[in-house]
Amino acid sequence: MFRLSRHQARQLASPLLRAPQRASCRAQSSTAEAIKAKPQPKSIWTSGRVFLLLAGTGLLAYGYGISNAPAWSHHLPGTKFVWSQSTKPHYASKADMEKAIEELRSALGDEAISTDDSDLEIHGRSDWSSINIDELPVAVAYPKSTEEVSQIAKVCHKYKVPMIPCSGRTSLEANYSAPYGGISIDFRDMNKLIALHEDDMDVVVQPALGWMDLNHQIKDSGLFFPVDPAPTAQIGGMVGTSCSGTNAVRYGTMKDWVINLTVVLADGRVIKTRRRPRKTAAGYNLTNLFIGSEGTLGIVTEITLKLAVIPQETSVAVVTFPTIRDAAAAASKVLRAGIPVGAMEIMDEVQMQVINRAGGTSRRWKEVPTMFFKFSGTKAGVHENINLVKAIAKKHKGGSFEFAVTPKEQDELWSARKRSLWSMLQIRTDDGSEVWSTDVAVPISRLPDIIEVSKKEMDDLGLFASILGHIGDGNFHESIMYNSKNPRERAAIEKCVKDMVDRALEMEGTCTGEHGIGLGKKDSLMKELGVETIDVMKSIKKALDPHWLMNPGKIMDFPE
Ligand SMILES: Cc1cc2nc3c(=O)[nH]c(=O)nc-3n(C[C@H](O)[C@H](O)[C@H](O)COP(=O)(O)OP(=O)(O)OC[C@H]3O[C@@H](n4cnc5c(N)ncnc54)[C@H](O)[C@@H]3O)c2cc1C
Ligand SMILES: *[C@@H]1O[C@H](CO)[C@@H](O)[C@H](O)[C@H]1NC(C)=O
Ligand SMILES: *[C@@H]1O[C@H](CO)[C@@H](O)[C@H](O)[C@H]1NC(C)=O
Ligand SMILES: *[C@@H]1O[C@H](CO)[C@@H](O)[C@H](O)[C@H]1NC(C)=O
Repeated sequence: MFRLSRHQARQLASPLLRAPQRASCRAQSSTAEAIKAKPQPKSIWTSGRVFLLLAGTGLLAYGYGISNAPAWSHHLPGTKFVWSQSTKPHYASKADMEKAIEELRSALGDEAISTDDSDLEIHGRSDWSSINIDELPVAVAYPKSTEEVSQIAKVCHKYKVPMIPCSGRTSLEANYSAPYGGISIDFRDMNKLIALHEDDMDVVVQPALGWMDLNHQIKDSGLFFPVDPAPTAQIGGMVGTSCSGTNAVRYGTMKDWVINLTVVLADGRVIKTRRRPRKTAAGYNLTNLFIGSEGTLGIVTEITLKLAVIPQETSVAVVTFPTIRDAAAAASKVLRAGIPVGAMEIMDEVQMQVINRAGGTSRRWKEVPTMFFKFSGTKAGVHENINLVKAIAKKHKGGSFEFAVTPKEQDELWSARKRSLWSMLQIRTDDGSEVWSTDVAVPISRLPDIIEVSKKEMDDLGLFASILGHIGDGNFHESIMYNSKNPRERAAIEKCVKDMVDRALEMEGTCTGEHGIGLGKKDSLMKELGVETIDVMKSIKKALDPHWLMNPGKIMDFPE
């Protein structure tokens, strides 16, 4: 019988699974309700596998060279950069930090600057991030306008205080954490839709507007914003990580949907990246520069987004396959046939088991590799596309299609996909157990190869790991359960993840398809692009942020 231990109960009540509270870059409660997970006291623990963590870790860990230093402080041989925390610019002393906080309080009001322990804690770490570090910000600022953000930046610039912007706090790479302390800038009070231009099909928003809330607010216009990462992600953070989501195979990623940005620079200057028209050939593309910069180049305070037309008809279906390879082959055929699927996602047998065990959806799933399809378009188009995909799936040993008939059923089916990471977090058991979620992308034709090898490595180690992927983009994630209190286990996982990234790079892939670099993938980025390319990035960083105040320690380390 399944019982909630006190620890599990606490996990279920963790910010991730609860309606986000005050300091937690909350979503509107409608969204929060939608994602709130319910404990399912009736579910049964079907597998003991999760308890069998790592018999062989010792060996592996030996080979890897265990160190208590976090991965991001490892030295990378053969490069001229020192990957360590000791090389850092000169930041404010404690006394100056206090002066800065005082000055901000008198400029913005007491309630705009918090030094509450719980606030700091919330802004320094996250439950689902693969890296958590112990340094916390010294204060959290809650600006209400671009003007206030500019004031914050001016004070921070004067005293040399690091600034870490944070929006929905769902990023998976410690990207809003504060390894050098400083002030976390939380956009809680900048969550408005400023203007909807239906005829131009664009919308101007503030950074803390959630993408789901945005869609809720504009639903009567017949338009929607198609980029769909974590349900509680917000536009500012989505610009920060250049995210994508399940709709990317049809609609592209964040980069394709941003028209212009208002950005506060490290010294408090405010710029707009461009004007309104859809096309421009006017100068460097600064909009693009800030997208995916993870808050290291400037603070985004206003965003203009393109919108898409809500399709006349949508349909959701799932189909099972005997192996991931069969599924991937089918996916590739679907793409080559030019069938405009709305989304095409894969989950392996372990992930399907996780969803069953977490019990967040009302149906019980077959525990085999499963593909999730979304179809959208005109009625006739959807019908035609479904038949085409059915035929392809059948040729690749696909089982029967299960369709959602009502919108409620569509949500239900799709929710199994959208909840996958949460399901994994929900079934964590022993104290200290954590989930490491990785993200790599390869050319689509290599996807089955990398998934097969990576799964085998995890299986050989007895690790409990599941795969899910945006199969149409060659992008997949592995979620690995591990005990964070066991340094050997942690080192083994780090090695597996590094191996997987190296494999992706060998296949001409990338170390991150959508989650970003943050703290944990800096050395992978160096491997992926090379010293010269990173040098150019550093030059840009230096030009915009000479004192390394903007989200320091992310994407790249300080120059020697
Ligand atoms: C369950 C789950 C599912 C997910 N699915 C996907 C997916 O399918 N696809 C995908 O791409 N990602 C996915 N993610 C990752 C995450 O949702 C995205 O990275 C998202 O873009 C982060 O948005 P956020 O508002 O939470 O940003 P945050 O975590 O708050 O911040 C992200 C980064 O942007 C910076 N930043 C935040 N606000 C600003 C600002 N105003 N100006 C400048 N920089 C800023 C931060 O410093 C940080 O570096 C998922 C995460 C979870 C937990
Ligand atoms: C981004 O932040 C998360 C959560 O703090 C962290 O686990 C993850 O490792 C970070 N990403 C990288 C690449 O450092
Ligand atoms: C950016 O686009 C929005 C919406 O089209 C527009 O209102 C705004 O004026 C634009 N910014 C500039 C600097 O033109
Ligand atoms: C500039 O970059 C933005 C964001 O990536 C992109 O949407 C836009 O198409 C680019 N503009 C041009 C003219 O290339």
